[in-house]
Amino acid sequence: MASKTLSTAPRVARFGVRPLQCLRKAPAYAQRRAISAYGYEQAKALTFQDYGDPPAVLSLHSHSISPPHGDLMTLRFLASPINPADINQIQGVYPSKPTFTTSLSTPNPIAVAGNEGVAEIIALGSKPKEAGFKKGDWVIMNGPGFGTWRTHAAARVQDVVKLDDAMREGISAVQAGTVSINPCTAYRMLRDFVDLQEGDFFIQNGANSGVGRAAIQLGKQWGLKSINVIRGRDDKAAEEKLKQELKDIGADIVITDAELQSQGIRDMAKEWTNGGRAPIRLALNCVNGKAATAMAKLLASEAHFVTYGAMSKQPLTIPASMLIFKDIHFHGFWVSRWAERHPEEKKKTVADVLEMTRRGTFRDTPVEKIAWEWETKGDELVGKVKDTLEGYREGKGVFVFGKT
Ligand SMILES: NC(=O)c1ccc[n+]([C@@H]2O[C@H](COP(=O)([O-])OP(=O)(O)OC[C@H]3O[C@@H](n4cnc5c(N)ncnc54)[C@H](OP(=O)(O)O)[C@@H]3O)[C@@H](O)[C@H]2O)c1
Repeated sequence: MASKTLSTAPRVARFGVRPLQCLRKAPAYAQRRAISAYGYEQAKALTFQDYGDPPAVLSLHSHSISPPHGDLMTLRFLASPINPADINQIQGVYPSKPTFTTSLSTPNPIAVAGNEGVAEIIALGSKPKEAGFKKGDWVIMNGPGFGTWRTHAAARVQDVVKLDDAMREGISAVQAGTVSINPCTAYRMLRDFVDLQEGDFFIQNGANSGVGRAAIQLGKQWGLKSINVIRGRDDKAAEEKLKQELKDIGADIVITDAELQSQGIRDMAKEWTNGGRAPIRLALNCVNGKAATAMAKLLASEAHFVTYGAMSKQPLTIPASMLIFKDIHFHGFWVSRWAERHPEEKKKTVADVLEMTRRGTFRDTPVEKIAWEWETKGDELVGKVKDTLEGYREGKGVFVFGKT
């Protein structure tokens, strides 16, 4: 049965203190069923044959994986999140397409869903060994499209990035399985578009998303001040709770999209930014629509506006004056393309975030752990994917693999 464990992890204090449990190595994930006498690994995967609405096209497929030889290794997944991009990919509206293949013993080509996750190596051929991989190593995906919503997979060296023992020290599977997309996206957007100085402001919408929460925390550590926009809640107590949650991880200002679009917002922004003397030089946008335009209006001249998502499914509308008179620079950012162009920087970014996590200065996004055991039924897993299509969630769904 899928469990619902909402945690705002880190099971560690926020700043400075390094609790004892962090010094211990993460537990060995030796929860495995016995494999067949011939070394074949039994595997299950959430797959789709056609693009479409995830609940309609996803199904649980069983297959076997032959013992690895040559450049192959067998992975057993430990944790794989359900990100908005995974949903878009199943719908067929994401630019990075998965591989449709008959290699999982189906008459028609199918693709495995999911792009992010962490797995342990349970068997490997000669080439991965020569490349420095060993049994028990943890790996994350090298790029999108691998298919991570599965218990096991055959992979090649180039498909994965190893988390060195030092990087993995004290890190949970959920933390490792969610480090490579959202925190990296926030990290690069804060660093790569404008040289923000200590005390500078940035503004963002979708502030309670995984990326948004990462930006708040990274910004805080780097001495930046953040103005954070969330969607208002009908339940005002829940809205206040969410605002406080973001302040607890370092947000300076948290407002709703309605407050952002209210008449007094310019005066409020002046108040926050010392009469406008501390300019807002960067905006991070994953929502679009009116709320994004309103956010852009608060920017200082020559500021940068980075769009990285489209959660409202609305277009981004920019008054011409912002381009002509204010010279606002509009950019797009896609972490997959950035990682492909900067593979070494990607590794360093991941290592940096994991180090902050280990030190207790970077908290994971709240998650809803979805237990995936060998016996877990496909309907249950697909139902959990369906739940993530609803907004106003308290935690990101993450498949956490048990005895598979
Ligand atoms: N370009 C890149 O490289 C890159 C990398 C990572 C993520 N992303 C994008 O960044 C966005 C956030 O991803 P994530 O994984 O951080 O998200 P997440 O943790 O799953 O959270 C989803 C966020 O979207 C908001 N949301 C949902 N439906 C919405 C709607 N109709 N209008 C406005 N906001 C809505 C939610 O707000 P509520 O709580 O109010 O529902 C929440 O803040 C997604 O668009 C994702 O595709 C892009």
